[in-house]
Amino acid sequence: MRIIGQRVQVRTPEQNDDYDLFEIYSNQKVGNLAGWKAHQNIQITRNVLMGFIFNNETFVIELLETKKVIGTISLYKDTFRYKVSAADIGFSLNQRYVGYGFMHEALMLILDYAFKNLKFDVVGCSHIIGNERSKNTILSAGFVFEGLVRKYRRLYDGSIIDAAIYSITSEEFNNLKGSK
Ligand SMILES: CC(C)(COP(=O)(O)OP(=O)(O)OC[C@H]1O[C@@H](n2cnc3c(N)ncnc32)[C@H](O)[C@@H]1OP(=O)(O)O)[C@@H](O)C(=O)NCCC(=O)NCCS
Repeated sequence: MRIIGQRVQVRTPEQNDDYDLFEIYSNQKVGNLAGWKAHQNIQITRNVLMGFIFNNETFVIELLETKKVIGTISLYKDTFRYKVSAADIGFSLNQRYVGYGFMHEALMLILDYAFKNLKFDVVGCSHIIGNERSKNTILSAGFVFEGLVRKYRRLYDGSIIDAAIYSITSEEFNNLKGSK
């Protein structure tokens, strides 16, 4: 899969993305915001990358200008809704590239793919309470706040987090695109 935008492309990961992905996943600040443990060595990243390639749910965000992989974006099958074609999005960005709108661009590309190509009815997204940057990114893509889920998930360190959850329907996304 490959979707080309103005400044980034979202594509299927490859084995030689390992160093760029390690740069993202070895940062505990990113891990704390997203809810996972920072990778201690590149072998962990390589194992995770094999999973990405096998599962076909996580894609990399590559800068068109430099070809550097600066983030990941995942389109997971939703396990919450029943008999509705639904997906859930997760994302992470290399901290050196925060503040330039790259995730916003990648999110719009993957939403277009999710609704137009994969025909999802609705796409969800969530963030740990307090992750304001993620909240802004989610809202800027047109997601609608659904509510707060208490004790949403137990993390690797045993702590349990509350989360804010959002969704965007195919109709909302099409209206948004039509209005631009
Ligand atoms: C969440 C995360 C991806 C947000 O990164 P980000 O760069 O702020 O995201 P966006 O792509 O939405 O960019 C918005 C920022 O770029 C700026 N920007 C610059 N050019 C822009 C453009 N063309 N379009 C949109 N925004 C632009 C915006 O003003 C905003 O910056 P500001 O908040 O300082 O004003 C990043 O902080 C991250 O990886 N966090 C750790 C992992 C994580 O939280 N994952 C989410 C788990 S749910």
